[in-house]
Amino acid sequence: MKKILVIHGPNLHLLGQREPSIYGRTTLKQIDAELRKIAQRRKVALVIKQSNVEGEIVNLITKNKSKFQGLLINPAAYTHTSVAIRDAIAASAIPTIEVHLSNIYSREEFRQKSLISPVVKGTIMGFGPESYSLGLQALIDLI
Ligand code: DQA
Repeated sequence: MKKILVIHGPNLHLLGQREPSIYGRTTLKQIDAELRKIAQRRKVALVIKQSNVEGEIVNLITKNKSKFQGLLINPAAYTHTSVAIRDAIAASAIPTIEVHLSNIYSREEFRQKSLISPVVKGTIMGFGPESYSLGLQALIDLI
C-alpha cells in the first residue's frame, strides 16, 4: 500500500477558532477525518502530523523520505519564509502537493510569494478545507 505523509504547518492546530472569516469554522480534526475517508476509499495509508516548529518539519520530510511515496503539505506561514523546508522538499524528491485554505495571492503582499511552490508538483489554494481534499486526490492520482 502506498504511504502519504500529510504535514500541517504552524497555527493550523487552531483552525476552527483562528480568524474564521479567512480560514472558516472547520477544525483540523474535521479536515483530517475527511482526508482519512479519501485515503480509505483510495486504498492509501496516511500519516498526519502538525508542527509549529520549522526544524521539526524539515526532520519529518528528510528523515522519512524513503518511507513515503507522496507528501501533502500546508506549510502555513513558513510558505513565505522557509528556505529550509523548500530545500528539504527538493532534497527528498518526494512528489509533493502544496495546499492552502486561502488564496495567498488575494491577501497581504508578504503572503503573495511561496518559496515552496517552485519545488512541488502543484499547488491548490483558495477552496478552504476542500483544498486539502483536492490536493490529496491529485497526489494519489499522481503517484
Ligand atoms: C495558509 C496561508 C498562510 O499565509 C498563513 O500563514 C497560514 C495558512 C492557508 O492555508 O491559507 O497559516 O497557509
